[in-house]
Amino acid sequence: MVMAGAIRRPLVAGNWKMNGLKASAAELAAMVQGSGDLTAVDLLVCPPATLVAGFAELVAGSAILLGGQDCHPDASGAHTGDISAEMLADAGARAVIVGHSERRTNHRETDGLVRAKALAARRAGLIAIVCVGETRQQRESGATLNVVGGQLDGSLPDGASAADLVVAYEPVWAIGSGLTPTVADVAEVHRAIRAKLVDRYDAAGQGMRILYGGSVKPGNAKELMAVPDVDGALVGGASLKAADFLGIAAACR
Ligand code: 13P
Repeated sequence: MVMAGAIRRPLVAGNWKMNGLKASAAELAAMVQGSGDLTAVDLLVCPPATLVAGFAELVAGSAILLGGQDCHPDASGAHTGDISAEMLADAGARAVIVGHSERRTNHRETDGLVRAKALAARRAGLIAIVCVGETRQQRESGATLNVVGGQLDGSLPDGASAADLVVAYEPVWAIGSGLTPTVADVAEVHRAIRAKLVDRYDAAGQGMRILYGGSVKPGNAKELMAVPDVDGALVGGASLKAADFLGIAAACR
């Protein structure tokens, strides 16, 4: 029997993608300032890796945690241009997104690689936010649950706990498009993800947070966050503006 979402503390994570310069510290400062009232929600900002260390100083002592957007499976070595989970942790990150659809597509990341990255995150003491989601074509052909189920089977690491694993359901066609699935469709996929997590991790699977991502805005957040088994949001574009990010977080209370 799947328990109600109230047992899980909501998480609102901002994925800045390849956006942000040192000057973006002003926006982050506004987020820090506005986060004081949001005591019932975990807040995470994932800026480009170049900004993690500097931003870590800015958020110190606040409710906002920092995360990376990707990591290499290895801790160190001859991997030009890559960044390890240990490096992100050293810079002040507490979490890392792995297997985002943009990386699965643009960098041909496989489920196996995503799982290796999730294991690296745990090794470094970071929360892994593992992303899954179907393309428009897959949804239209009725393959959504199969696709997402397969991604979970291949991408999730063994032995995970609610403290080190978060799943983000992000339909590829909803990302940056202004489109979102219906509440019923979100509910169906999140219910299926929960069942998989409980099947795989038993009681720990009940406690793992499942985020929805894809065109989440302050205007639709309340409706989406009220869906059973939606335990927060992974936000792209709207996470770049403090007012929008905080507005979404406020909808999670
Ligand atoms: P948008 O919120 O811009 O649709 O992006 C979602 C996303 O990809 C977050 O990881």
